[in-house]
Amino acid sequence: MKHAVKILILVILISACRQMHSDSKIPFAEGREIVTENGMVVSAHPEASRIGISVLQKGGNAVDAAVAVQFALAVCYPEAGNIGGGGFMVLRQSDGSKHVLDFREKAPLAAKRDMYLDEDGNPSGNLSTDTHLASGVPGTVDGVTRIHSLYGRLDFRDVIQPAITLAEKGFPLPEDQAASLNRNRENFISRNRARPAFVKDSLWKGGDILRQPELAKTLKRIRKYGRDGFYSGLTAQLIVNEMQRGNGIITVQDLENYSSVFREPLQAGYRNYSLSTVPPPSGGGIILVQLLGMIESSPVGEWGFHSAKAVHLVAEAERRAFADRARYSGDPDFVRVPVRELTGREYLKSRMSDFNEKRATPSADISAGDPLPAENEQTTHYSVADHHGNAVAVTTTLNNTFGSSIVVEGAGFLLNNEMDDFSIKPGAPNMYGLTGGDANAVEPGKRMLSSMTPVIVEKEGKLFLVAGSPGGSTIPTTVFQVIINVVDYNMKITEAVDAGRFHHQWLPDQISIEANTIDSLTLKKLEKMGHEFRTRSSIGSVNAIQILPDGRMAGGPDKRGFNTACGY
Ligand code: GLY
Repeated sequence: MKHAVKILILVILISACRQMHSDSKIPFAEGREIVTENGMVVSAHPEASRIGISVLQKGGNAVDAAVAVQFALAVCYPEAGNIGGGGFMVLRQSDGSKHVLDFREKAPLAAKRDMYLDEDGNPSGNLSTDTHLASGVPGTVDGVTRIHSLYGRLDFRDVIQPAITLAEKGFPLPEDQAASLNRNRENFISRNRARPAFVKDSLWKGGDILRQPELAKTLKRIRKYGRDGFYSGLTAQLIVNEMQRGNGIITVQDLENYSSVFREPLQAGYRNYSLSTVPPPSGGGIILVQLLGMIESSPVGEWGFHSAKAVHLVAEAERRAFADRARYSGDPDFVRVPVRELTGREYLKSRMSDFNEKRATPSADISAGDPLPAENEQTTHYSVADHHGNAVAVTTTLNNTFGSSIVVEGAGFLLNNEMDDFSIKPGAPNMYGLTGGDANAVEPGKRMLSSMTPVIVEKEGKLFLVAGSPGGSTIPTTVFQVIINVVDYNMKITEAVDAGRFHHQWLPDQISIEANTIDSLTLKKLEKMGHEFRTRSSIGSVNAIQILPDGRMAGGPDKRGFNTACGY
């Protein structure tokens, strides 16, 4: 009898629990330092993180939540969240299998190698950044609808709906975001015929509600028709109309032809961890693997965090990795990128054979490559983990903040200016006075080189870390520093993402450094060794999740920005 009562209580408890999980209103934790058991979403905007967690609470898995977050960010974080851009995803399923989805934009079919050059063959003004010609064919909607159809659990309509509601009802702008919209006001006005939702009569203030009815209608078409709701029909026509209005070259055929690509994950070991990240057309994964490989034989943990010895070694490794990057990396569908060679242990050992423990090696003495074209740093990353062991790391971008600032009239979304990530004139300076390599020259249908580095790390086969960052060329060095902060310096995830960062990218021959990152005595030692420093604004903005030994998930939203972790 006692046994029967116990079973009855158990059944009641299980069904109560099920009910809780089907109720999106169950409480969740939100903040900077949260540890939860069932699921975690860390993104650049509180609205998007809340939507992600509500999808997990409705019984969705990490893929459902990631897709919901991507659409939500397109509404609440138009600085970089998008449907008019692209990105990269690393997915780890609960059975340990890994997948990389490349939904990077592609050059339109009418693109030409010299399309951004004037008649004297020089880069012409701002064509690759501020005009309709600046946009690659967007990849996001193809990517997320595809990943959802393969690995999602919930009905797609339920996954996209929260973003539609957010666009229709609007959301209160955080103060920083109101300021960022105001800073871009002139661009929104001058580059668009109709006034986009991002402009109102007066300036935005924190707490003002941003509503985007046209974007809501576009999202409804995607809800109804999936991928085709973007790449054909009315949305496609509106994109083409917009192109024609501004001498852009994206056609109906470009849109119909666009396809995201599953790529072999780039995998590597580091100490007793293994990581999975993205191969080209992002150069970020190669750099991350090279950096870890180049420092692995050194006990940086014993040397101490930001000790002169550790900073010197890391800067020297970064200098060498970046020298390789500009020369070799490009779209693997167009150029052979020697990924295996560049990340092989023997190669990395030989790459550090001229490392001098006491002196900085001048970048002029390091062979390979052309200087790296400077990249815009406005991108965004989100990380999701569910209680089944599925995890998703996505880095996604429009390139510049708000992309080209051109909003597709009648469709309410921003277009990317990702074409600027190509080498506009191989061998000649780009808008930042830097030059790039031939492997990344513009070609029709080609993907432009990226630095995005979403990563999933495992320890003894178990999920350990989900991470990534915006930051252009500083992305891989940022992700690298977060990994060694956790692995070598035993920091908890919030400390690891908040810690000061530095960055060397071969040329210019200097270490960029956040203010107050390295103490003055150590800086003096490093200067004596031949390093030069330049203090700059913040480097990267990581959104990470660490899985603790007991299986709970710790959120790691970077203090840089309005990143938010939500978990339950
Ligand atoms: N647009 C920045 C990147 O792809 O790395």
